Amino acid sequence: MDKKVILSGIQATGNLTLGNYLGAIRNWIQMQDEYDCYYMIADLHSLTVRNEPEVLRKRAMQVLAIYLASGLDPDKNTIFLQSHVDAHTKLNWILNCYTYMGELNRMTQFKDKSAKHADNINSGLFTYPVLMAADILAYNADLVPVGDDQRQHLEITRDIAERFNGIYGETFVIPEAYIAKQGARIMGLQDPTAKMSKSSTNLNDVIFLTDSPDDIRKKFKKAVTDSENCVRYDKESKPGVSNLMTIYGLIEGKSMDEIEKEFVGKGYGDFKNKTAEVVVKKVQPLQEKYYELLENPEKLREIYEKGAKKARKRANEIVNEVYRKVGLIVDE
Ligand code: TYM
Repeated sequence: MDKKVILSGIQATGNLTLGNYLGAIRNWIQMQDEYDCYYMIADLHSLTVRNEPEVLRKRAMQVLAIYLASGLDPDKNTIFLQSHVDAHTKLNWILNCYTYMGELNRMTQFKDKSAKHADNINSGLFTYPVLMAADILAYNADLVPVGDDQRQHLEITRDIAERFNGIYGETFVIPEAYIAKQGARIMGLQDPTAKMSKSSTNLNDVIFLTDSPDDIRKKFKKAVTDSENCVRYDKESKPGVSNLMTIYGLIEGKSMDEIEKEFVGKGYGDFKNKTAEVVVKKVQPLQEKYYELLENPEKLREIYEKGAKKARKRANEIVNEVYRKVGLIVDE
């Protein structure tokens, strides 16, 4: 039987965070043997905010290097840049014509982002979920491993696909979100009621994958907790400690019960130090590989070119089929 198809991606905006790693990349790595995986760098999505052109190009390569340094094998996965596969933007246009303004108006990320970028509420920001739907549907992906903040975008993708299938007959696979039980929403260290985000303005709130060990230790030391001084999982009343427990548990492969037992009678100082140490141990080898890869742009180029070639093959076939269904003449 054919392997199930997976597609996911990360925007090339800002440095990647521990949230991106634990909520997305970590799961991708676990899936690479079992599925036919397409992992892209969402460089087109990055254009919804203003970037320096050179910085955007650099960021795209940094995201690619993080994918590889984290353990995504370019021989097992198709790794590519979104902008290298025209089928995404072609399908984006078609799907725009099958998406309602009302649906897009309900997207919470649009509301958040337009509040953050009040001086640049462009229509790309508004139709962003449609490009994301195109990314997924152009591959007929079965599963989309993402963090919790992308749940709504997956729902609209399914709605668009079902609408299209309803009009033109079975065309798209209806994709499912793969959202892990733990780690789908890593919270900020300073504000544990909001997700850790690469665009956060408070640097102490975020662990970047490229932070130095010292910075990581400092940030964990400053992490907001509570006054109980007891390592106990309770997301509602102890969001800070529960978030640190989630981070610790995911990296060490321990349950919340096990962590509670491990730290009985110990204070937050100990627990924070221990959490910082496991994070440092995790990211240090990743960083070594990352910097090594960035020194080798030829190798990176070889990988993304090979990926684009393979991605184009699959996506072009599916998008040509869509062209035919809606009544366009396919130029083959
Ligand atoms: P982006 O770049 O904001 O985030 C990339 C992935 O990281 C996850 N993530 C988190 N998970 C847990 N805790 C956090 N604090 C955290 N922060 C981010 C996100 O859920 C996501 O899985 N629109 C997407 C990129 C995209 C895409 C796609 C994804 C474009 N096309 C098609 C899947 C399929 C985005 O902006 O993710």
